Order: sequence, then structure tokens, then C-alpha cells
Amino acid sequence: MCGIVATIGSRQAAPLLMQGLQRLEYRGYDSAGIATTSNNQLHCRKVEGKLIRLREQLDRSPVAGTCGIGHTRWATHGKPDALNAHPHLDSADEVAVVQNGIIENHRLLRQQLQQEGVCFRSQTDTEVVPHLVARALGQLQGEVAEADLLRLAVTRAIDQLEGAYALAVIWAGLPQELVVVRHQAPLLIGLGEGQFFCASDTPALAEVASTILSLDNGEMARLTPLGVELFDPSGQRTQRTPQPLCGAEHVADKRQFRHFMLKEIHEQADVATAWVERCLYGPPTDHLSPVLDDVGHVQLLACGTSRHAALVGAHLLEQLADIPTTVHYASEFRYAPPPLAAKTLTIAVTQSGETADTLAALTIELERRRSREGLGEPLQLLGITNRPHSSLGRLVPQIIDIAAGLETGVAATKSFLGQMLALYSIALRLASQRHSGVSASEQLIACREGLEQLPEQLSALLQTMDQQCATLAHEFAETQDVIYLGRGINYPIALEGALKLKEISYIHAEGYPAGEMKHGPIALVDQYVPVVSIATPGRVFEKVLSNAQEAKARDARLIGIGPECADTEIFDVLLPIPPVHELISPLLTVIPMQLLAYHVAAHRGLDVDQPRNLAKSVTVE
Ligand code: F6R
Repeated sequence: MCGIVATIGSRQAAPLLMQGLQRLEYRGYDSAGIATTSNNQLHCRKVEGKLIRLREQLDRSPVAGTCGIGHTRWATHGKPDALNAHPHLDSADEVAVVQNGIIENHRLLRQQLQQEGVCFRSQTDTEVVPHLVARALGQLQGEVAEADLLRLAVTRAIDQLEGAYALAVIWAGLPQELVVVRHQAPLLIGLGEGQFFCASDTPALAEVASTILSLDNGEMARLTPLGVELFDPSGQRTQRTPQPLCGAEHVADKRQFRHFMLKEIHEQADVATAWVERCLYGPPTDHLSPVLDDVGHVQLLACGTSRHAALVGAHLLEQLADIPTTVHYASEFRYAPPPLAAKTLTIAVTQSGETADTLAALTIELERRRSREGLGEPLQLLGITNRPHSSLGRLVPQIIDIAAGLETGVAATKSFLGQMLALYSIALRLASQRHSGVSASEQLIACREGLEQLPEQLSALLQTMDQQCATLAHEFAETQDVIYLGRGINYPIALEGALKLKEISYIHAEGYPAGEMKHGPIALVDQYVPVVSIATPGRVFEKVLSNAQEAKARDARLIGIGPECADTEIFDVLLPIPPVHELISPLLTVIPMQLLAYHVAAHRGLDVDQPRNLAKSVTVE
């Protein structure tokens, strides 16, 4: 949430900052700004709205300087306008700060500073920081060496902060220096040729930095045109070898598609192909053995779409591998974790690897489990992510990289498929451990065979479904409410279909287990409320059809997702998928869900890739 960038070196900062911000815009896009230093002066430009407006302002009124910071915002404190946009400055306009995260004790600090005569210009939590740094600079000037001045002033300021944040700070008094610090919000240093960078995420460093250093919590860095110095939380110099950054992977490109989301939906056949090669035909993944060897219970921690993938995984783990499984909202788990049970495998599922609630829930679990390691209980923790070098990757040693490639559209699509597939791998592995040798269950065999066909089926389905959903989208243009129904392993897909529609088209939608309809929600149904029903052959096929009939009897327009057969003729419109094994079906039924939401939003002329109020990486609680 919020993207920060910073650079220093021999090149003009503003164009580099704008390029970095553009690649971080998925993290927030309600306002933006940059500040640079040159000739002992600070130059700051900020605007309400997207980066394009900042670019226009910089064209009219450029800023000079080879050192600068930039920010693209997702508002937490204070509405999205130019005053609340970052960077925030001290009263003398000499210190500038960008922040990602939340300063939790900002009210108290604001009051203290106001009592000292400081006037605030914004409603943000961040603005306390430049004032605190300015105050510390005043206290330290003449007391410490110039090379330590800004760093020690920032140290003195952050000693007073509570919360989770990443900061970048510049000061007109030392125009060739920038200080950055990480405290539970991601921050990376990028090293280029004669140019040094700092950013919230790797895409901003692609093509400008060849190697990166990921800051640990509490670490600070001082960047000058000569290089980067790292300091540990106690202020001691520390060193680490930078890791190579493979540029191409991190550059977003829409190719021939109108939106990133559409491109990413279409990339799902490739995600499946790579998974089949890696997981069905590739060598066994031995590194997971210690955590997967003796599992009595699984708990999954996730938010949003990732939680829907976890629900599909839970169904598989219970029905295929016979392992009791619980799915938790990470935001709930962190304040009410269930009692500890032995042999529990905990899996965090997160595309970004940076979701604050998921990381906090996992940290709590890690601490609880560590306290029991003395009793001989192994630490069974696993992360499933698309970003193995994220904060999640540093928290848990065992990671499954879904390798879906950079996902730029704010609405998750290909990463959802990748997460489900990772959970299929785990369920298959645990199921084979249970039903080993000749007794391998029929379901397990059918599931494996079904998965082998998946890439081809996905590729064909994506071709045909795109146009069908585009045509159907016209009908939804004026719709206010939609109900999504599914049962069993397709119930999470109904939830996901409703979430996708809500977040990008702003149409109210609810996902329900089809059997629950008659216990209340059916009261909403009439000719103006379309019902999208997932009806795939399997244990509950007939039941789902009956539930759909109940909605039809109340005049609902019925949209079915299932194979073409006599039974599915009840639907007013059928979005056909191949007749696959029930346990494989979510990997296909999700495609019409995603395409329908996409086309409805595109038809309504909305900003599909950057829907209002959302951000790709939710790094605040
Ligand atoms: C919806 C969406 C969100 C995320 C959620 C968790 O399209 O993308 O619901 O799934 O914010 O994010 P990650 O997976 O990064 O933890």
C-alpha cells in the first residue's frame, strides 16, 4: 500500500523517480508527489489523482536535482488530495519525507509538536516525521560529524514512532544524501551504475538496478552518490552481499491486450503448463519434506482472493487427503488464534507476500510454535506466494513459489490459479502419502489425470469464453446486484466471482453456498437480480440445479457455468466449460467468473487495472 521510491547519483532524479513510481502505481494511485534537493534547496511537487497529473505538473514546472524521493499514495489518514499527498515537509521546507505504512502514535506526536509551535499542513500520520527530523537536526547540528547528521536525526525521530512503516528522507542542508529505514514495511535498495535507488518493490528497480539489497526490519541505509552504507537497528555499520535482479521478469507489459487484467487472465494457460511440468512431471520437491511429513491438521491463513484459494485447498485436503483443515481470515486469526494442536501444518497464502494481516498472523503462529519446539514439536510452517523474495520469504524458510509472473492488475487472477495449483500439489502429496502403493484412491488417480489435461483445456476455454463473456457483459451494464451460487469445491469460486465483480465493476454481488439460498438470501431474488450458478457434474450437481430452479421460479435471470448437457438447459445463458472431474473443476469455472467481471467493468468504462479505493499490496492493518 503506497509506493515509495528514491534515487541519488549522477543523473537527474525526477525522470527516474517518475519511472519508478509508474511501476509502483499498482500499490496506490489516489495522489502522488516527488521532492528533490539541489543547491541547498528542496523542490517539491504533488498532485491529487494519478501519476499522469504529476507528470503534467512536472512538464509545466520541472524540478532539478540528482537526489530525490517519490510517492504514490493509497490514503489511510486524510482524504486523497494534494495537501495530504507525500512528500511531507517540515515547517522550513527543508526536510522531505515519504512513508509507506502507518504511524500509530501520530496523534500524540502531533499534539506535542503543536505545543512546541509547529503548524501542520495535512491530516496525515506521516507529517509528524519531517517535523521530528527537523527538530533532531537542530539538536544535533554541531554535535556530530556531517556524515552522520541526517542518519542520526532520522534515528532520533523514529525512536519516537510506533507502527509499521518504511521511510525515505532528504534534507536541503545535505543535498547529496538520502536516508531510508524499514520497520515492518518492505523496502529494497537497488544498485545501478553510478546511481543508487530505494523502492517498496522490485518492479521500480527493474532496468535501473542490476543488484538489490532487501532491508531487514530496523535497518537503515545512507545513500550518497558514492554508494550505500547499511546500519543495523543499533546503529552499527553492517554489510550484506547484494542479490542479482533479473530485470525482464519485473517489467510490466500489456502486450496486445487492452488491460493488464485481461492479459493476466489469458496467461493462466501458461501458469498451468509450467505447473504441470514442474509438479506432475518434475523431480520431487524434497525441501518440503520436513514440514509435510507428519501432518495431522492444516490451518490456512490468508486474505481476500488468496483466502478463496485457501478454501479450495481446504476442500482438497479434507476430501482427497483426509486431513482436517481450517481456513482463517488472517486479520481475525491475529487477534484470536485457536488453541495450539500438535502436528498442525500452518500455510500462509499471499500473492504479494507483503499483506500486513497475513504476515502478522504468521508471526504470531511462528512465535507460538517456537515456544513448543522444546517439546519436540517440529516447526511446520509453509508460505505460498508469487513473490518469494518478499517479507513472507524472509519469515518462513519453506516457500512454494507459484511462479505466475508479475501481476499488475489490482484484481488477482493468474495468481489465484497459481495459488490453487500450489495447494493441489500439497493435497496430492499428502493424499499419496496416505493412500500409497496399490491402494492409491480412485479420486487421486482421476485428479492427476485431470490435471494433466488442464493446460490444453484452459487454453481452449480462454479463447472461446472471452467473446461469450464480452457479449453477456452488455446485459449487466445497469445491474445493481448479482448473486453467485456454488457448492462444495466450487463454493469458493462463487465467492471469488462475486469479489471480482464487486471490486472492478462496483456492482454489488454476493457469493453463497447454493444450499443456503433458501435460508434468507432468496428474499433478494427477482427479475432484476441475475443469479450466476456453478453447476458442474459431481456429488452435488443435481442439488445445485434444484437451487438454481428455485431462483428461476422467482424470475431471476439464470446464468450457468457448467458443461453443455440436457441438465444445464435450465439456464437462460450457459457459459460452457469442459466436463471435468469435480475436484478439478474450480480451475476451469473460475475463468468465466474472471472474464465476466472484466468485461462488465470494461463495458462500464471503468479503470479495470486500478479500481477505486483498492491497492495491490495491502501493507497496512
Ligand atoms: C482481490 C485481491 C485481494 C487480495 C488480498 C490479499 O482481487 O487481489 O483480495 O487477494 O488483498 O493479497 P495477497 O494475496 O497479496 O496477500
